[in-house]
Amino acid sequence: MVETSTSPWRFNHHRIDIKRWIPTYFSSHKTLFTVLWIVGFASVFIWQRNIVDGFLIFRWSVPVRPLPTLRPVAFNLTDFGGVGDGVTLNTEAFERAVSAISKLGKRGGGQLNVPAGYWLTAPFNLTSHMTLFLAEDAVILGIDDEKYWPLMPPLPSYGYGREHSGPRYGSLIHGQNLKDVVITGHNGTINGQGQTWWKKYRQKLLNHTRGPLVQIMWSSDIVISNITLRDSPFWTLHPYDCKNVTVRNVTILAPIFEAPNTDGIDPDSCEDMVIEDCYISVGDDAIAIKSGWDQYGIAYGRPSMNILIRNLVVRSMVSAGISIGSEMSGGVSNVTIENLHVWNSRRAVRIKTSPGRGGYVRHITYRNLTFDNVRVGIVIKTDYNEHPDDNFDRQAFPTLEDISYTSIHGQGVRVPVRIHGSEEIPVRNVTFRDMSVGITYKKKHIFQCAFVQGRVIGTIFPAPCENLDRYDEQEQLVKHSDSQNMTDIDYDF
Ligand SMILES: *[C@@H]1O[C@H](CO)[C@@H](O)[C@H](O)[C@H]1NC(C)=O
Ligand SMILES: *[C@@H]1O[C@H](CO)[C@@H](O)[C@H](O)[C@H]1NC(C)=O
Ligand SMILES: *[C@@H]1O[C@H](CO)[C@@H](O)[C@H](O)[C@H]1NC(C)=O
Ligand SMILES: *[C@@H]1O[C@H](CO)[C@@H](O)[C@H](O)[C@H]1NC(C)=O
Ligand SMILES: *[C@@H]1O[C@H](CO)[C@@H](O)[C@H](O)[C@H]1NC(C)=O
Ligand SMILES: *[C@@H]1O[C@H](CO)[C@@H](O)[C@H](O)[C@H]1NC(C)=O
Ligand SMILES: *[C@@H]1O[C@H](CO)[C@@H](O)[C@H](O)[C@H]1NC(C)=O
Ligand SMILES: *[C@@H]1O[C@H](CO)[C@@H](O)[C@H](O)[C@H]1NC(C)=O
Ligand SMILES: *[C@@H]1O[C@H](CO)[C@@H](O)[C@H](O)[C@H]1NC(C)=O
Ligand SMILES: *[C@@H]1O[C@H](CO)[C@@H](O)[C@H](O)[C@H]1NC(C)=O
Ligand SMILES: *[C@@H]1O[C@H](CO)[C@@H](O)[C@H](O)[C@H]1NC(C)=O
Repeated sequence: MVETSTSPWRFNHHRIDIKRWIPTYFSSHKTLFTVLWIVGFASVFIWQRNIVDGFLIFRWSVPVRPLPTLRPVAFNLTDFGGVGDGVTLNTEAFERAVSAISKLGKRGGGQLNVPAGYWLTAPFNLTSHMTLFLAEDAVILGIDDEKYWPLMPPLPSYGYGREHSGPRYGSLIHGQNLKDVVITGHNGTINGQGQTWWKKYRQKLLNHTRGPLVQIMWSSDIVISNITLRDSPFWTLHPYDCKNVTVRNVTILAPIFEAPNTDGIDPDSCEDMVIEDCYISVGDDAIAIKSGWDQYGIAYGRPSMNILIRNLVVRSMVSAGISIGSEMSGGVSNVTIENLHVWNSRRAVRIKTSPGRGGYVRHITYRNLTFDNVRVGIVIKTDYNEHPDDNFDRQAFPTLEDISYTSIHGQGVRVPVRIHGSEEIPVRNVTFRDMSVGITYKKKHIFQCAFVQGRVIGTIFPAPCENLDRYDEQEQLVKHSDSQNMTDIDYDF
């Protein structure tokens, strides 16, 4: 609407105000130009500050948020010689700080504050009873020259580095056999500078498996919160055989294409874990729950269990929002995934496994999932044939059972369900309740099933496959399926 002198009465007061003030301050072109010049200069200032953010050139203009003290003793990385110029290597400063904190365990531990700045470092270890606190605009930068990355033995439940046999690179931030570790902050960042690694991986220049950004092994009482993790060389956050892990209010970012294997979070043989209020957009699975690989995972025998994932917004163009597997040989059970929003993704939620894995995936509850422009919504795949070596047991068939999907909604979905069980690995006791997903194409077979036993309760849209029993809203049987083993899978669609 164009405002004119005959505009409605409600604008009159406003217009009078402007008429009164404009002549006072913009009486001449000269003043107007002065004002514009100041505005222009100020925006260059702000732009400059953003470019060199953390180099503190114009920091006086922004009040620095005071850091909370979460342990009896708090240190500043600069106390140990840290220099946040993005060039100086701070590995020794981090190591000295961690060593000082390791002596405070009996007194409640210590906090290491990382102030605003770019803190370049090679991999370093954490210690127990430690809080790593990243101030606003603090960025820990992982050095991208692999010579600085120590090699470690393969994970026992994988037998091999994931990509190459033999040892693997450790993680940028690493911990083993720890208790009570917190990584938090005012949304500071741990940046793995993965670009170099991804390129070398693609060009096959690496002889060992790339390292994760943060890997904590055989530890308990771990909290990761209020920070950003980005551009990991490999998996981003990898808790391995840990107990009582909380990940809350964390942003995880990597390019959605050409950032190979940059999973967001990989709970691996972990127990009692909560992941909530996170935003994850990465180059592979946003979350992949695992528990070891084929004969090595079966021998190690540690399941991932009691995991709660909720209030997440995730994106994955290469793989899936939330995955279970494909390495699940130690078993995965009692996982709840709720209030999940998956947008512009290839797949939303996927369980993947294969002959040779053994183990089980059971007691999995999905509730209140929203698929927003997702190619395939719900996936179970039982022929994900990727093995560490040729010595896997061809008769080690995983068990998949007791899986329920409740309140599944969304729009722009091509294939809402593709549950591809097999004769050797049938999918048992699957339940669908309250599902209505907007589809991109009206085609018959888009709720695809093979070797699935289970039921749908109430109205389900689009129409479910014939493999499932039909129940009404009151949970009364309407029709038994007579073709659980029917195959109606179409990967072309
Ligand atoms: C850490 O030390 C630096 C340099 O002395 C100082 O500018 C910064 O404010 C300190 N930060 C904290 C969180 O104590
Ligand atoms: C870090 O921890 C690992 C595993 O405990 C150990 O092998 C390595 O030597 C440690 N590195 C340093 C620099 O302390
Ligand atoms: C999440 O983290 C941001 C940045 O650190 C913080 O401002 C916000 O209050 C946090 N939200 C919750 C619910 O903790
Ligand atoms: C934290 O920083 C990331 C990356 O800059 C940003 O995307 C995110 O919105 C921030 N989170 C909060 C809660 O401010
Ligand atoms: C990989 O191994 C080859 C042959 O031993 C060697 O020339 C090359 O430098 C190694 N590359 C790395 C990144 O270690
Ligand atoms: C889990 O870890 C948190 C954070 O360290 C701690 O407060 C809590 O007591 C732990 N829970 C159990 C059951 O040990
Ligand atoms: C995250 O930050 C918010 C706001 O600063 C704070 O209230 C909350 O306790 C922090 N959460 C954790 C788990 O550190
Ligand atoms: C299942 O996991 C939840 C946490 O998500 C836990 O509270 C519950 O006790 C677990 N159930 C069993 C039977 O262990
Ligand atoms: C379902 O999840 C969405 C976030 O994806 C949330 O906004 C909504 O409140 C949830 N609904 C219920 C009933 O919990
Ligand atoms: C089927 O799975 C549901 C959970 O989804 C469970 O409550 C029920 O007991 C299972 N039924 C059988 C027969 O195992
Ligand atoms: C489906 O195949 C399984 C073996 O995978 C078999 O035990 C079962 O009897 C078959 N069910 C039907 C209804 O044909």
